[in-house]
Amino acid sequence: MRVSDTADLWWKNAVLYCLDVETYMDWDDDGTGDFPGLVQRLDHLVDLGVTCLWLMPFYPTAERDDGYDITDFYGVDPRLGTHGDVVELIRTAHDRGLRVIVDLVVNHTSDQHPWFKESRKSTDNPYRDWYVWRSDTPPDTSDQVVFPDQEDSIWELDEKTGEYYLHQFYKTQPDLNVTNPLVRDEIAKIVGFWTQLGIDGFRMDAVPFLLDTSGNGDGEAARLPDPHGYLRDIRAFLDRRTNGGILLGEVNLPFEQQLEFYGGADGDELTMQFDFIGMQATYLSLARGDAGPLATALQGRPATAPDSQWATFVRNHDELTLDKLTEPERQEVFAAFGPESEMQIYDRGLIRRLPPMLGGDPRRVRMVYSLLFSLPGTPTLFYGEEIGMGEQLSVGSRLAVRTPMQWTSGTNGGFSRAKAAKLPGPVVTGGYAPEFVNVADQRKDPDSLLSFFRLLISRRKECPELGWGSFEVLEQPHAAVLAHLCSWDDGALVALHNLGPEPVVVPVDLDGCGAEHLLADLLVEGTTAVDAQGRAELALEGYGYRWLRVVAPGTRRLL
Ligand code: NOJ
Repeated sequence: MRVSDTADLWWKNAVLYCLDVETYMDWDDDGTGDFPGLVQRLDHLVDLGVTCLWLMPFYPTAERDDGYDITDFYGVDPRLGTHGDVVELIRTAHDRGLRVIVDLVVNHTSDQHPWFKESRKSTDNPYRDWYVWRSDTPPDTSDQVVFPDQEDSIWELDEKTGEYYLHQFYKTQPDLNVTNPLVRDEIAKIVGFWTQLGIDGFRMDAVPFLLDTSGNGDGEAARLPDPHGYLRDIRAFLDRRTNGGILLGEVNLPFEQQLEFYGGADGDELTMQFDFIGMQATYLSLARGDAGPLATALQGRPATAPDSQWATFVRNHDELTLDKLTEPERQEVFAAFGPESEMQIYDRGLIRRLPPMLGGDPRRVRMVYSLLFSLPGTPTLFYGEEIGMGEQLSVGSRLAVRTPMQWTSGTNGGFSRAKAAKLPGPVVTGGYAPEFVNVADQRKDPDSLLSFFRLLISRRKECPELGWGSFEVLEQPHAAVLAHLCSWDDGALVALHNLGPEPVVVPVDLDGCGAEHLLADLLVEGTTAVDAQGRAELALEGYGYRWLRVVAPGTRRLL
């Protein structure tokens, strides 16, 4: 193994951290989080150990989709700061060894974007073809809408010209027309603009929707002839403009289709993709106390090109979607983790955070994060997970998990000194309120969840075999246990996770190992002997977890 490789392909063993500037830290006391506030909190992130920030949209917006409805792709929402503040953030983050990626939301614009305002003026407006219009009555598309609580069609009649425009998301988010070369040029300019300011890549929103040009009509001529060729072009452009910039794509599709978005064996499209399948299988496994669904999902992940990578997660900023489970499976997860209708959304997801779903049981919460950090792929955190924040169900939408970050036990959780009414949303109340869950208290407590995250992240960084290596589920007799082995060159790591409440002893069989090997615990002190046949017996508490390095004779790795 060449440790230097891990620097070139930095995303393969990174730890990503997603945050919204608006809800992270308010430095000018106007109630809205801002870039100067985020800069003040970078050292929390360095201390935590994450290596790359993903900033949710911070552009000027009409605020109909929490910033995902953009009115100027080149601007900065004035409530959050200026271009100068963004540059200061990037500069300071880089000084601390943190990379920064930003959301690239070019499937659609806000309906308040000047391009759309022009486009809807007349059928011969120069911007008409920047969006997707049809003059005939659209068919029933109610089964295609993403937000069924608000929309019943992906086409909206625009009174002025009597034609319909395409909107895969809310009707306030008209889809851009990427068959138009002027739109493609503009998207390249947007990519070029932010990379020129020094960012390290993009989280790319809604990629399959961006590439799907079927809304342009039935004729092949109307569509983008080679959608994946277009994605390759964006990647090639980013590669030319940056030194190792990444495209992390949102592609919630079955694994085999995701492979196409990596560019298959060539790996020349998206650099990374979220593993939605593994995430959903994790919740099914947790609900059942049976590692089987997760093991099946992990074994079903197709091999990617060596430089491509999966982004793993247990929570993101959207609904916790369970859309890839079968209906009975989804109902099992709902019953276990979100039985009340106010906890569910769109008939497919939950608006809760992990700790409340697990009844606040610290053993289970830690076990799940240990699992996340031990799986192959790059772990991706959503702000507040490191302290075990809960959700605010009374918000009643995806925003329930986008509440202000909880820094202290003081007013507004230390997020802002403004009046509560001026904040972007309520601070969490109840058992997960800042009084009980905050950074300041946990920083000083070696037994806190925050301290546990620091440990996990530092061990994770020492184990590049997790991000780079081969993955194997180890056979063992306990259904509740996931035992897996990640190996890469001279490194191998065994991880054990008990999804059930009963203590167990797990026999493992390690091919190629013998009595000269040793298993060294990485999360606690301790070693376990391996016998001449490569077998070892490992005890696990209920909801227990262990990471064990396979120590070969003469190794020079530090233990
Ligand atoms: C996916 C984003 O994650 C979500 O928050 C947003 O509403 C839609 N794309 C539309 O941009």
